[in-house]
Amino acid sequence: MALRLRTAIPRLWQAQTLLPVRFQQTSAQEATKEKKFLIYRWDPEKPGDRPRMQEYTVDMNQCGPMVLDALIKIKNEIDPTLTFRRSCREGICGSCSMNIGGENTLACICRIDANTSKPVKIYPLPHLYVIKDLVPDLSNIYDQYRSVEPWLQKREEKPAGAKEYYQSVEDRKKLDGLYECILCFCCSTSCPSYWWHPEKYLGPAVLMQAYRWMIDSRDDFQKERLDNVSDPFSVFKCHTIMNCTKTCPKNLNPGKAIAEIKKMLASA
Ligand code: SF4
Ligand code: SF4
Ligand code: FES
Repeated sequence: MALRLRTAIPRLWQAQTLLPVRFQQTSAQEATKEKKFLIYRWDPEKPGDRPRMQEYTVDMNQCGPMVLDALIKIKNEIDPTLTFRRSCREGICGSCSMNIGGENTLACICRIDANTSKPVKIYPLPHLYVIKDLVPDLSNIYDQYRSVEPWLQKREEKPAGAKEYYQSVEDRKKLDGLYECILCFCCSTSCPSYWWHPEKYLGPAVLMQAYRWMIDSRDDFQKERLDNVSDPFSVFKCHTIMNCTKTCPKNLNPGKAIAEIKKMLASA
């Protein structure tokens, strides 16, 4: 048995050094595994600049697995003018939301398609004004978020010495699936109703946060919060198309939250 092993080793070594030419070529190609990225570029502040798609080539053997890794590599090594938002790089801050391969998602948790024959197409979140390249103007959505007053409101001052407002375990559980929203706005910008009525319809992200405060057992202003969205547009422009829930990168269900608000308004 020992003799057999000793003779097998030189044969294996020989086999590796006398590789067929075709196999050697494949290895050389694998040494640089090129993937193309087509990225929306536009600087509205640059006179004469027009929106266009710019192509970049990245060696995937020298790049991390996520789309954000590729964007950072392009910015660091190829084109420092490419502009996008990002911060946490782990799906928590909501900054890197964009449209990748036709879907609104977070670049930092979106894997690069391994098929090198297909380019990755990247656009800013749809139906928003563009500040530059992949950076959309979120002013309107933030104004709408502010309009639902997303903070705890009490009718009376906290008793002297009290540090916290308590909540039962059951009441706290009602906020699960709502508080995890990172305000990336992938949902609102995938919603056809929001595309057509961005000034009047609040959209799924903001409505889910409105609902989160409506049902918080510690809050005293449920009635006012419902009155605030009871007009024909704020909530009722949702037609239950459910693009919002389908696209949410945190697997939340803003469509259901909107349906719950409609139920509360119907029974108010
Ligand atoms: S369910 Fe409502 S909020 Fe969600 S995509 Fe459809 S219309 Fe928009
Ligand atoms: S519900 Fe989902 S998609 Fe919408 S803002 Fe929150 S995390 Fe983003
Ligand atoms: S960088 Fe924070 S969610 Fe992507």
